Amino acid sequence: MSSRPAQQEKKRLAAVVQQHFDGASADWANRYAREPQSMADLDLILRRQNVHYLIQPLLAAADRTLQVVDVGCGSGDVLDGLPRDVIRVTGMDFSREMARQAGVMHPNDTFAPGDATKLPFRYDSADIVTSLGVLEYVPNPIEALSGMTEILRPGGHMIVSFPNRTSLFRRLLSIERSAEKSLVRLRDMVRGTDRAKAYDSQYRHRQWTPAEAASMLNRAGLVVEEMRVNTYGPWGRLGRLRTMRSLSARISRNWTAAGFLTKRLACTMVIRARKPSHDN
Ligand SMILES: C[S@@+](CC[C@H](N)C(=O)[O-])C[C@H]1O[C@@H](n2cnc3c(N)ncnc32)[C@H](O)[C@@H]1O
Repeated sequence: MSSRPAQQEKKRLAAVVQQHFDGASADWANRYAREPQSMADLDLILRRQNVHYLIQPLLAAADRTLQVVDVGCGSGDVLDGLPRDVIRVTGMDFSREMARQAGVMHPNDTFAPGDATKLPFRYDSADIVTSLGVLEYVPNPIEALSGMTEILRPGGHMIVSFPNRTSLFRRLLSIERSAEKSLVRLRDMVRGTDRAKAYDSQYRHRQWTPAEAASMLNRAGLVVEEMRVNTYGPWGRLGRLRTMRSLSARISRNWTAAGFLTKRLACTMVIRARKPSHDN
């Protein structure tokens, strides 16, 4: 059992994540609708493209309406554009504001606030569970994955994303951030200010290698079927240049298969995994 200070720290971090996404909720749907204004915007759009690619064969094979649970649904836009005669979507999000906005934007789907590690759904009830851009914020991602697997019916599928720790572009970003922070620290020392504090991320944003991501899914009891990758390009100062983003978009839209090179460059992995049926 974890100690009281550890639990309090967990609660504090959860509140920081919640507050962050409550604040981001008003603009979240716009990030899907407008031309990307940052590399992070572009990543959202490309990630959704990969989700749709991975989900399409499941919908094409469906002989009834599929129950889809979107964990950490944000504004509910990840599944936007998929035919609602084949899927029924229930989304839940840690941020009340996100869940509320999702309900306003998508009145035909169902949304509620909730925690990825305490899912309010029956075991073996969902045909598909999606969770995009969420695990990196969850204190215990294995626990969250196991919970999502429990609500999935045998033979059902999970589509989940992981930030790619081996990505050259993610490494460049962390070098750029450290260099910036060192400079600000130096300035703080000279000027007697305390600006470097703002560089300390208030919440942990985890990243995984492709092998680690696959192994986590295996540990949760799933079989990996396919991995897609997206977003090549610098996220820092260079990523703020529009030409850089359109170049990145052009390359990223085509290089989506997870191969030797793409797995070392692309920023995000999207994986489709299956919960084994009782008979296999
Ligand atoms: C980066 S956003 C992604 C939103 C959406 N899936 C998308 O791709 O547009 C991460 C979302 O995960 C939610 N989240 C973070 N921790 C969570 C948790 N423990 N349980 C449920 N949702 C969580 C946040 O509130 C936020 O809306």
